[in-house]
Amino acid sequence: MDFSLSEEQIMIRDAARDFARTELLPGVIERDNAQKFPTEQVKKMGELGFLGMMVDPAYGGGGMDTLSYVLAIEELSKVDASSSVIMSVNNSLVCYGLETYANEEQKQKYLTKLCTGASLGAFCLSEPEAGSDATSQKTTAIDKGDHYVLNGTKNWITNGGSADFYIVIAQTDKEKRHKGINAFIVEKGWEGFEIGPKEDKLGIRGSDTHSLMFNDLKVPKENRIGEDGFGFKFAMKTLAGGRIGIAAQALGIAGGAYDLAREYSKVRKSFGKAICDHQAIAFKLADMHTSIEAARLLVMKAAWDKDQGNDYVMSGAMAKLYASQVAMDVSVEAVQVHGGNGFVKEYHVERMMRDAKITQIYEGTSEIQKIVISRGLLRN
Ligand code: CAA
Repeated sequence: MDFSLSEEQIMIRDAARDFARTELLPGVIERDNAQKFPTEQVKKMGELGFLGMMVDPAYGGGGMDTLSYVLAIEELSKVDASSSVIMSVNNSLVCYGLETYANEEQKQKYLTKLCTGASLGAFCLSEPEAGSDATSQKTTAIDKGDHYVLNGTKNWITNGGSADFYIVIAQTDKEKRHKGINAFIVEKGWEGFEIGPKEDKLGIRGSDTHSLMFNDLKVPKENRIGEDGFGFKFAMKTLAGGRIGIAAQALGIAGGAYDLAREYSKVRKSFGKAICDHQAIAFKLADMHTSIEAARLLVMKAAWDKDQGNDYVMSGAMAKLYASQVAMDVSVEAVQVHGGNGFVKEYHVERMMRDAKITQIYEGTSEIQKIVISRGLLRN
């Protein structure tokens, strides 16, 4: 097995690491405190090609593989998980969904702007009563001939206030269950499209999460993605890749927290020696590092599956399930290694612990990943 990275992958990883340290680290605590969206930083992400990494260069994307994308997400997440989720949603859910399933006109109109950072995207599936149970969409899209009329509410939408284009999943025929669901491209500012207040969150506070309300929102028929009734499969297929991005985010949060704990343990002294020289701390570091390496292998395997054209539904779900648990465990331990200092904002690890939690919730909770994995195991 070859675990080495190509020269190009190393270059991308290092560029992302450099960007995270120079552009994201300054002000990360202040943005978290104030729930401030990283507008300038996202603009630079677009300029550096981080917003459409895997998209064909013909549309303005980077044409990179999934492994390169995962490495970049990991590096950004070591420093600022708020910024990395903005990037992850735009790449994995919006750009990937459009590049793979939209028609040429839709790609020219929307994808070209989304993958260069000229515009930002959001993916709108969750509803007040349809989070995990995604087939139970209550948002309706009624076919009126040359357009659809959308009514309903979407919840917990990442980039909800800052996006320009929204992929909205809605029910067109309730009787048909998942086969009566469609996906639409909606533009901010269209009549009947209202953005609710920003959510006051535990973590990833620099990203903006909103409810969206649709009141007789007219969407032209040419903005439906794929054949009639393709919306549920569109959402599932897109989320399968999105989960690899979130797994990489979790891996990065864990890695960032571990790095800080290791460095702190070398300089903090107790009982006459550095705390890393106490076995209680050294063993924690050993456990943290081992679990991060195990998570890395799962994340890389899922990315590799996607790049090879293999089925990656299960490997992506396993990577997300495991890496998000590691992010939670390692960030809690990093706070413990820091002792009292871990409980104050200045040392970063308390933010990482708060940020880690969302990786077990969004793009399918850990319980949803177990459903996906067990169904995959038992299918044959
Ligand atoms: N790829 C392709 N097709 C898929 C699929 C996949 N990954 N998963 C399911 N399908 C297909 C099935 O084959 C089936 O099709 P057929 O009828 O033709 O056979 C159809 O979809 C229905 O599948 P299920 O019967 O398995 O559907 P279900 O109702 O039991 O739900 C589920 C399955 C996995 C639980 C799904 O509802 C799910 O993933 N829920 C979680 C949703 C989620 O992740 N929400 C997160 C919101 S997005 C977000 O968080 C973004 C953000 O802002 C950060």
